[in-house]
Amino acid sequence: MSTIELSSLAKTYGGTEIFRDLSLAIESGEFIVFVGPSGCGKSTLLRMIAGLEETSGGTIRIDGTDVTRAEPQARGLSMVFQSYALYPHMTVRENIAFALHNEKLSKDEIAARVAEAARALRIEDYLDRRPKALSGGQRQRVAIGRAIVRKPRAFLFDEPLSNLDAALRTDTRIEIAALHKQLGATMLYVTHDQVEAMTLADRIVVLNKGKIMQVGTPEELYSNPANAFVAQFLGNPGMNLVAARATETGDLQAGGAALRFSVPPPIGTARIGLRGEALRPCDPGTGRLAGTLAFQEYLGADLCLHVDLASGERVVVRTTGMRRHQEGAAISLDFSDADCTFFDADGNALIAGNAVTA
Ligand SMILES: Nc1ncnc2c1ncn2[C@@H]1O[C@H](COP(=O)(O)OP(=O)(O)OP(=O)(O)O)[C@@H](O)[C@H]1O
Ligand SMILES: [Mg+2]
Repeated sequence: MSTIELSSLAKTYGGTEIFRDLSLAIESGEFIVFVGPSGCGKSTLLRMIAGLEETSGGTIRIDGTDVTRAEPQARGLSMVFQSYALYPHMTVRENIAFALHNEKLSKDEIAARVAEAARALRIEDYLDRRPKALSGGQRQRVAIGRAIVRKPRAFLFDEPLSNLDAALRTDTRIEIAALHKQLGATMLYVTHDQVEAMTLADRIVVLNKGKIMQVGTPEELYSNPANAFVAQFLGNPGMNLVAARATETGDLQAGGAALRFSVPPPIGTARIGLRGEALRPCDPGTGRLAGTLAFQEYLGADLCLHVDLASGERVVVRTTGMRRHQEGAAISLDFSDADCTFFDADGNALIAGNAVTA
């Protein structure tokens, strides 16, 4: 278990700046998940921490030691990639043991470590097979096994499950969560998958254009996004944002309706954020917002209603999966004051008139 501290990290490729002044302190044993749009620098950051990519500025410390210029091997980290890249001519056992060939270990020690990793990953029955006789999920577990036997100070995962089909992803995700509990190791994990981020992370780091937009527990980020980017990036669908304008009475004009609040909304509110599940369809004329049902998506347990408000803005309402609305019909939506997040014109969340900082 190790701490990892990133201080004012910078990275440029040629003249292109990927990161400037990125800082983050990762606690020992923490499971940190990085999310963000494609190209925002997630893989680059992981590769910089691993030592596979040069750092243009700032420092990387592992357990307090500056490793910014250290060779990858000297950092004691293990990285697992999307492509598992196993040696096809070697058995699973040989593939896993191969990761130890540079370390001066006895045969017994190597065998013990391979057995321990195989037990943890439940691949004991496949140790004598070659990779081509394994499923994708089993191959990725072998790749994780290679990482485990090195007893790294921390694990770095770059979208390890994205080559797997949905069912295998779920199984392997649960195994990675169990592995984290069992090893208590520090894990840094990049994913595009909302469910992986929400379920695996102690803390999620949302990146955009090389900047940290917010760091926090899944609950914090989902319920109290610091800004409109995080509000819309996390959650499927993302948070609905509706343009708002304060009226002379201190109420808000939004979505084509005059909205009254029991506690006045923060000064400077330019948008109201409402999660899909915070919007409740109700009898026409009885809710706080009025609109027309453009279309609905039946998802089994959930039903998503795409509603065009009187203002012309589209919101997505998440309700239970009973198909009982008519497309094209007028629909009324209600919500509670407590479920509103308020954002200023720059997209920063506001609480009682104060900007929340990430
Ligand atoms: N070797 C390189 N030379 C120049 N630019 C690069 C190089 N590697 C990456 N980049 C650029 O750096 C930026 C960040 O890339 P990176 O691969 O870290 O993104 P990412 O967040 O992992 O994206 P994805 O989600 O698609 O994997 C991108 O704009 C990319 O084009
Ligand atoms: Mg990437």
